[in-house]
Amino acid sequence: MRLRITTLAATLAIVAGGTLLGKTISATAPQAAPSSMDLYNTRVQPIFQANCYRCHAGLNHRGGLQMDTQAGLMKGGHDGVVVVPGHPEQSLLVKLIRHEGPPDDPMPMPPKSKLSDADISAVEAWVRSGAAMPATPVDR
Ligand code: HEC
Repeated sequence: MRLRITTLAATLAIVAGGTLLGKTISATAPQAAPSSMDLYNTRVQPIFQANCYRCHAGLNHRGGLQMDTQAGLMKGGHDGVVVVPGHPEQSLLVKLIRHEGPPDDPMPMPPKSKLSDADISAVEAWVRSGAAMPATPVDR
């Protein structure tokens, strides 16, 4: 009998603790993380458009890389794949914008400047989240 009471008390304590913990977690939980597609649409595409498209979109495919279509970006450039979804550390594009790639051929991107730390983090987070983007370019 004593054993059963102890067990009951322990169970109650666990349930109560779990509920408390659950409350604490839900009370302090941040908003749900944005999806990879949201990240692309709200943060990454504007960064690419402002800093990369003039050399990597439309008729310009410098380095063999077209960045405004999913097919183009996922195909990569003269050096092969530049975005490995889920793996920013393996993605040439991320290395180049961090200025951690080769000094030339291909050189750091964009060639004459560096993105802000916030923009670099946004691109990295997007690659880590799966690098989703619309199959057809959004008309802006
Ligand atoms: C002023 C033109 C210019 C701009 C702006 C530019 N690039 Fe480039 N990019 C190039 C050229 C030229 C190459 C080829 C360099 C080489 O092969 O040595 C290249 C190559 C690359 C490559 C390597 C492709 C491969 O397979 O070798 C990546 C990735 C890349 N650019 C990403 C970007 C990103 C991301 C941006 C914007 C943040 C950007 N570029 C902005 C001109 C540009």
